Amino acid sequence: MDKIYLKDYEKPPFVVQTIDLEFELHNTKTLVTSKMQVKRAGKENSPFFLNGEELELISVYLDARELHESEYELNELGLTLHKLPEIFTLEIKNSINPEANTALDGLYKSSGIFCSQNEPEGFRRITYFTDRPDIMAVYTTKIIADKKDYPILLSNGNLFEEGDLGDGKHYAIWKDPFPKPSYLYALVAGDLGCVSDSFTTMNNNEIELNIYCDKGNEAQCSHAMTSLKNSMKWDEERFGREYDLEVYNIVAVDSFNMGAMENKGLNVFNSHYVLADADTATDTNFMGIESVIGHEYFHNWTGNRITCRDWFQLTLKEGLTVFRDQEFSSDLNTRSVQRIADVKALQERQFVEDASPTSHPIKPDAYIQINNFYTATIYEKGAEIIRMIHTIIGEGGFRAGMDLYFKTFDGQAVCTEDFIWSMQEASGFNFDHFKLWYSQSGTPEVDVKTVFDKKSKTLSLTLRQTFFSPTIHEQKPYFFPFKIGLLNNSGHECGLELEDTVGQTLIDKGILLISKEEETFVFKNIKDAPILSLNRNFTAPIKVHTAYSLEEYAFLMAHDQDEFNRFEASQIMASMVLHKLIDAVEANDAMNLSPTYKAAFEKVLLDMDMDMSLKADSLTLPSVSLLMQERAVLDVEAVYVARNFLKRELIRELGADIQTQYASLDRECEYTLESKEMARRKLKNTLLSYMGALKDDTPVLQQYQNSNNMTDRLAALSILANSRGEAKTQALEDFYKRYKDNTLVMNKYLAVIASSELKETPSNVKALLEDEVFDMKVPNLVRSLIGSFARNALHFHAVDGSGYSFIADKVLELDKLNPQIASGLVGVFKDYARLNKEAQGLMKKELEKIVNTKELSKNVYEIVSKILA
Ligand code: BES
Ligand code: ZN
Repeated sequence: MDKIYLKDYEKPPFVVQTIDLEFELHNTKTLVTSKMQVKRAGKENSPFFLNGEELELISVYLDARELHESEYELNELGLTLHKLPEIFTLEIKNSINPEANTALDGLYKSSGIFCSQNEPEGFRRITYFTDRPDIMAVYTTKIIADKKDYPILLSNGNLFEEGDLGDGKHYAIWKDPFPKPSYLYALVAGDLGCVSDSFTTMNNNEIELNIYCDKGNEAQCSHAMTSLKNSMKWDEERFGREYDLEVYNIVAVDSFNMGAMENKGLNVFNSHYVLADADTATDTNFMGIESVIGHEYFHNWTGNRITCRDWFQLTLKEGLTVFRDQEFSSDLNTRSVQRIADVKALQERQFVEDASPTSHPIKPDAYIQINNFYTATIYEKGAEIIRMIHTIIGEGGFRAGMDLYFKTFDGQAVCTEDFIWSMQEASGFNFDHFKLWYSQSGTPEVDVKTVFDKKSKTLSLTLRQTFFSPTIHEQKPYFFPFKIGLLNNSGHECGLELEDTVGQTLIDKGILLISKEEETFVFKNIKDAPILSLNRNFTAPIKVHTAYSLEEYAFLMAHDQDEFNRFEASQIMASMVLHKLIDAVEANDAMNLSPTYKAAFEKVLLDMDMDMSLKADSLTLPSVSLLMQERAVLDVEAVYVARNFLKRELIRELGADIQTQYASLDRECEYTLESKEMARRKLKNTLLSYMGALKDDTPVLQQYQNSNNMTDRLAALSILANSRGEAKTQALEDFYKRYKDNTLVMNKYLAVIASSELKETPSNVKALLEDEVFDMKVPNLVRSLIGSFARNALHFHAVDGSGYSFIADKVLELDKLNPQIASGLVGVFKDYARLNKEAQGLMKKELEKIVNTKELSKNVYEIVSKILA
């Protein structure tokens, strides 16, 4: 299949200045009329190509003259016109079938609501248009629909006019004054409930805020509304950015491929990221809503006002906006807690991706299907790269760079280089070497060696980078900020003084700037051999290797002033211990609990002054997926056996303390979202998960029954789902009965069952496919049931290959309905190369079955062909 290359970018030969759209909404035959003012920007004889897919063309008028079929070329990809004047109007009529649109791309129906999703290439499924982000036009929309079924008619911009048309129909006209790319276009029509509020901007403009949802769910929108107002205020305070239209509309729908979409003035959200109350949403859900509402709002400046020239620049808007939403959450909540969560997500998702056959730079140079590039790399690694810039030039320099970026590029479609230029120009810092982060892939690894010389009181620190990528050869050493601290043997910080600063830089607050493959830094006036705290606060997205022992990490875990590194030390210790246990399982040796680890764990457990969230994170064992990353050949079962052994041993040895502390945290009180309360629940549920390894599951069932909120109830339910007793059946049946009619809660139920280690999980999953709450056409349900099962390594990697063939069948079934969801799922096969021979054979058969299927989507083909290569 055809690849698209960044190097082939060419400016568009024609630009569309304005487009007036008219929709006559109908379930199966919606009529679309588009009237465009077009101007030639390229050579005189250039043909004008308009993308168009799954459309019925009705007519084409050029400057009010209808074109005969012979005057244009039409195929399944679009429409081409030749011999055009320099300026002209083009009027095109076509029809579409929203009800048949199960791909949820373009205009579709989600339980009675018309809604659209156009990023990256959905607009071509609505009408003929040059569907690329560097065509920025001014849009006007007229929507005509039945008034009873669709009382609410929305599009981008400000409402200009509305009225009745007789025979039960009405219309609305929306005008968006800001030129925008087609991917930001949106249309919604339905019989929706609405919650309204307002926000007064820094220049005293009053903005109308509306959140639309299914009728009856209005009461669940208040957290989203608060988050929206907080986002608007934060972007003014931290970045000086004010909102620019009269109204900001958000619509929540149940069927949505992604989390949410930043369409200008009309965000469309997966209802998962809007609706919440204590009874149905967890703390994690509430936090997720705040961050996604923020993220889409922040796109108004980083994405909408300044957009991407082409889709290779995706990280320009996504990496930057993720950085902004992470900062928003950090400023509103607890910074260190947010940092730990963000880094954990990066390590678990992006590091795995970057070590796999689908590894790619944050700015890829080729793709088959752009939809496949909304990845952890473009997003999370992209945000880390922005964060490094922020670390290097500081908050002041970064703000100046952002101000210059907005001033210079407002209203334009630009490239990542333009962003770097702004940062460089405003701060005076040279980012030439740093730019490699945009084009190289793979997670850099850094080996650390130290030599302490007592006589000269010096410590020399040598760092050696390796920069291997599974997909790109000939890489060069990276440039990155590396924050360190030296701890003396009583745990105090030593001052950092470089002996020779020629060619080496130590910027503020212990940050070294690393630029060479191997580099040595000599610190002077150090009395005793220190222990080093490395890559503090995770200043660079790399893996650090030291020769430290468990004892030395225990020391860091107890004394490091950097909260992130105290957490990181706990995870490194646990990993070291677990890898030894996995080795033992594989060699059929006896497993033993490391006394050093037990003591370190106990110390944290009994520390009553520690922040509860940090404590919970430190007491949590690394996930199975994180552990699997470090194994050369996957032996999935051994990972589970070792991890479960460690849990059991810890509860056996420290059970009394765990239970006492659990009891002291298990207070009956009103549910609030204060950080302290969320931290308390997190710690309590972490302790409960250890208690889940006990024979008696009464306390877990009690928490399930007595809790007044979903966080505690779901935590208990997930533990019970792995147990065998009567309590499990009782809780699962109760949960189903209680929440059967709430599809967002049913997602949790499906995920809990599909994630269970119990041997009946595969048959439970198959039975749920037939359950009335499940629907293959709703992405959230597919992700919860099938996606969770595919990520359940124990069952996915079942030795008889049944997990592989089940998922392969579902991928093929989904590909017919929704290729984007199918390709999201097929990514679970990416461990292929690391399997043992038998497993590899079984998986290969399934991958070949997929890739040899007729009419396979580009989406699935691209992923599978990379895995097989
Ligand atoms: N622009 C994206 C939505 C999108 C993603 C559209 C992929 C088309 C294809 C939006 O801003 C986004 O990034 N949404 C995220 C959530 C966000 C908080 C990271 C999503 O939907 O997962
Ligand atoms: Zn985004």
